[in-house]
Amino acid sequence: MAEVKIRDLTKSYGAVQVVHGVNVDIEDGQFVVLVGPSGCGKSTLLRMIAGLEGISGGTISIGDRVVNNLPPAQRDIAMVFQNYALYPHKTVGANMGFPLKMARMDKAEIDARVKRAADILGLQPYLDRFPRALSGGQRQRVAMGRAIVRDPQVFLFDEPLSNLDAKLRVQMRSEIRELHQRLGTTTVYVTHDQIEAMTMADRIVVMRDGRISQIGAPLELYDRPANTFVAGFIGSPSMNLIDGAVSQGRFAAPGIDLPLPEALPAALRPAEGTRLTYGIRPEHLTIADQGQPASVVVVEPTGAEIHLVVRAGQQELTVVLRERQSFHPGQTVHLAPVPGLIHLFDQTGARIA
Ligand SMILES: Nc1ncnc2c1ncn2[C@@H]1O[C@H](COP(=O)(O)OP(=O)(O)O)[C@@H](O)[C@H]1O
Ligand SMILES: [Mg+2]
Repeated sequence: MAEVKIRDLTKSYGAVQVVHGVNVDIEDGQFVVLVGPSGCGKSTLLRMIAGLEGISGGTISIGDRVVNNLPPAQRDIAMVFQNYALYPHKTVGANMGFPLKMARMDKAEIDARVKRAADILGLQPYLDRFPRALSGGQRQRVAMGRAIVRDPQVFLFDEPLSNLDAKLRVQMRSEIRELHQRLGTTTVYVTHDQIEAMTMADRIVVMRDGRISQIGAPLELYDRPANTFVAGFIGSPSMNLIDGAVSQGRFAAPGIDLPLPEALPAALRPAEGTRLTYGIRPEHLTIADQGQPASVVVVEPTGAEIHLVVRAGQQELTVVLRERQSFHPGQTVHLAPVPGLIHLFDQTGARIA
């Protein structure tokens, strides 16, 4: 096991810079998820850690070695990809043992390691099968087995569940977490799916356009997003974000009048006229007897919850309700934010502490 340290890391393809000075410390044994929209540089960052992409600037250390110039095979990492990349003409056992065979490990040791990985992953009954005779979930397990047998210092995963259907994804999510709890190996896991990030990570690194937007534990990001990007990215349905200004001690936008957080210390209280973005999560808006009037646009019962899309002023807002109530489009409701759960951001999008 090992810690991974990334310092001032940059990457350019020709004249185009795609990673702009990234700094992350990943502690020994931690499960860290890199999350962000498609194209933000997650795979590039992971592939630089793996040694599959060159580094344009900065350093990467694994354990106490700077690995910038080490080839992938000498970095003591194992990577699991989205497309399992199994050899179709090799059995499950041979697929799992292949990296060890390439490293010229002796056969008895290979067999022992394959058996151990197969036990961990529940693959014993399938060791003699070919990949074509496996389900998608089983294939992904074989790909993980091939990483486990190497007993690496660090596991790197690049969107390993994207090819699976929704139900299997949820199951494999907890399998990978369980595996991590069992092996305790430092893991860097890339996904574009914030739910995967929230449910799996010890720490989340949110990336945007080749930069880190925020690093924190899942609930820290949910409770105190550092900016409007993280606020909108983490949480589902997304946080409602409304642009407006302070007016007479309240928040105002066309057709919208909402209370400001009460607990804000006087020094942080934005002055009259200050332009702000007001953030309130759908689950933190309640239907009240009085408050911000809004007109119901769409009613979506999910079973456990009711999702309402409502129009207030020029803004569409989402409200999530846990109690069963009936609503109909066109109905007027009144919204009240839960005090203490209001987020304020300045004009640059940064959180006002
Ligand atoms: N080999 C390459 N040549 C040029 N541009 C690339 C190459 N690989 C990735 N990119 C660009 O780098 C950016 C980040 O890509 P990537 O790391 O794959 O994003 P993600 O994994 O977050 O979806 C994208 O804009 C992509 O087009
Ligand atoms: Mg990618």
